[in-house]
Amino acid sequence: QKTDIGIIGLAVMGRSLALNMADHGFKVGGYNRSKEVTDTVMREHPHKNLIPFYTLEELVESQEHPRKFMMMVKAGNPVDAVIAQLEPLLDEGDILIDGGNSFFEDTRRRTEALAQKGIHYFGVGVSGGEKGARFGPSIMPGGNEQAYKTVAPILEAIAAKAQGEPCCAYMGPDGAGHYVKMVHNGIEYADMQLIAESYLLLKYAGGFTNEELADEFSKWNQGELKSFLIGITAGIFSEADDFEEGRLVDHIVDSAGQKGTGRWTSLESLKQGVNVSMITAACNARIMSNRLEERTAAKKVIKGPKTMEGTRKTPVQKETFADLVREGLYAAKIVAYAQGFDLLSHASTEYGWDLDFGRIAAIFRAGCIIQAEFLNDITRAFEKNTKLTNLILDGFFLDKINKNQESLRSILSCGILSGIPMPAMSQAAAYLDAFRGMPVGANLIQAQRDCFGAHTYERVDRQGTFHHEWGQGYE
Ligand code: 6PG
Repeated sequence: QKTDIGIIGLAVMGRSLALNMADHGFKVGGYNRSKEVTDTVMREHPHKNLIPFYTLEELVESQEHPRKFMMMVKAGNPVDAVIAQLEPLLDEGDILIDGGNSFFEDTRRRTEALAQKGIHYFGVGVSGGEKGARFGPSIMPGGNEQAYKTVAPILEAIAAKAQGEPCCAYMGPDGAGHYVKMVHNGIEYADMQLIAESYLLLKYAGGFTNEELADEFSKWNQGELKSFLIGITAGIFSEADDFEEGRLVDHIVDSAGQKGTGRWTSLESLKQGVNVSMITAACNARIMSNRLEERTAAKKVIKGPKTMEGTRKTPVQKETFADLVREGLYAAKIVAYAQGFDLLSHASTEYGWDLDFGRIAAIFRAGCIIQAEFLNDITRAFEKNTKLTNLILDGFFLDKINKNQESLRSILSCGILSGIPMPAMSQAAAYLDAFRGMPVGANLIQAQRDCFGAHTYERVDRQGTFHHEWGQGYE
């Protein structure tokens, strides 16, 4: 049987994308390394447009040129292993897509290697988890722009739609798509951490019950914070436990996993010299959360503030307090996105990608984990000013920051006095204060550097580079 595209790897994400394509009328060849997986998919999800193949040779034979394949395998070595098997079977002009969460440098390397043979390699970010993949993910394709036209009809058909437009757009050459997905995940980490901190504040400083939390987050989901993550959070607080009385959320261990894309974003930002402190803070928060034993032991010996966890009475009414948290969260969220887009902007220059930030925000509007109303405003900001250097400086966001930053400061002080860790929100405030030109103490650091290492310093009142013979106190 002839097919339009081959999917290699039929685990949850591969299977869901294959069925999504099949739903949209494409003939999809499905292949998995182990025959059992293919058979299970065919048995449990039969579809007239999904055709099983048991060898890569047959899968390749089932298509006309230029042939199109999408790998949905685990990032890292499995991708190289599939490429090694598939490459000898491919011809010039064929297209190979990697739809996993691959590291963008790997994608750049693979793109270059396959280009030698005239094969177009695509690194495509796919966001939205299983449901997204099945019914409409956000898709971030990177690769050869000409060749993109061949796969665009399939990818755009299966993508989520926001106001009728597909949440899929060409990002740029080689690693651009996977880079954008990596930063998407970094922002996802920051977003989730901010929501977790808001939860801690409401629960421990505000005394909110799960029912009240569910109501509050549902309310937030009707306003400017409306987003997938706020929506699922509201639902989570209502979810009954499977084993015990009460809500499931209270029976989950306080230790979060991570597969690495947030960490990549943070590492990459240091390489680029861009401050994504909130993403880094979110990674560190997960790292701290994993130290369960140490945290349990330290709890017995390190004193907290006098106002003990859970007993602090908020100085204001619950509703007023919740409004402060909501406004503070919103201000911090703006900073997180400003940091993420700043990283994209530097990467675009560094790697010569010519990323379109308005378009990136537009394809994040639906399908992906960070989908939110808010992204319309980001698109508007970049469309209004394509040279916008920092999202915070856009009129709309500036206004929001100026309106909401007092709330951010007041919930931060409440959190700190109550002993509630708020690493991401703290970073938002620190970033804002440094960015808005408050002294950051670098004059003193320069003095120290010059003092111990003759690293020189510059002056506020005259041109040039100076070194001072520092006389005191350091023998
Ligand atoms: C997405 C998600 C997806 C996945 C993350 C979770 O956009 O659909 O980001 O890629 O859920 O990998 O990442 P962690 O396991 O690192 O939290």
